[in-house]
Amino acid sequence: MTSSTAPTRGTILVLNGPNLNLLGTREPEIYGSTTLSDVELLTSEAAGAAGFRTTCLQSNHEGALVDAIHAARGTAVGIIINAGAYTHTSVALRDAISAVELPAVEVHISNVHQREEFRQHSYLSAVCTTVIVGAGVHGYVLAVSALDTLLG
Ligand code: DQA
Repeated sequence: MTSSTAPTRGTILVLNGPNLNLLGTREPEIYGSTTLSDVELLTSEAAGAAGFRTTCLQSNHEGALVDAIHAARGTAVGIIINAGAYTHTSVALRDAISAVELPAVEVHISNVHQREEFRQHSYLSAVCTTVIVGAGVHGYVLAVSALDTLLG
C-alpha cells in the first residue's frame, strides 16, 4: 500500500484487483505497457493536483479488497476501483461498496464491452456513481476528475 501526502480535500482510495499487479507485462496488446506503479503514480499526481491524497492498494484476494473498502468508511472521501475479474463475479465487493456509502468510480483499462460475453456484466456498476471503460490507464485520471466534480 502507498499513500501520498499532498495537502488535502480528503483521501481517495485507489483499489486494483487480481492480476493488475502484472500490468506492463500482462497481455500488453490489451492492457498496454504501463506498470501498476506508474498507474498509481499518475493517479496520485492527478489526485494531488485536485487537492486529494491517495491510498493505493492492489490485491489478488477478494477479502482484502472488501476489508479495504470497509476501512475507507470514515477515512476516505471516495473510491476508484478496478476490480479486475472480480468485477464479473463478486457480490461481496458490490455489497461492500454499497455498505460504505462513498462515491465509487469503476474503471476498466480495456473496453470490456468489445470483449468476451462474460466480461459484459459487472456486479459493481449499479452501485458505482461512474463507470469508465476503454480509456486505457488514462481512465484512472478520468476517475479522479469524476470524483473531483462529484465531491464539489
Ligand atoms: C479489466 C477487465 C476485466 O475483465 C479483467 O478481468 C481485468 C482487467 C480491465 O481493466 O480492463 O483483470 O478490469
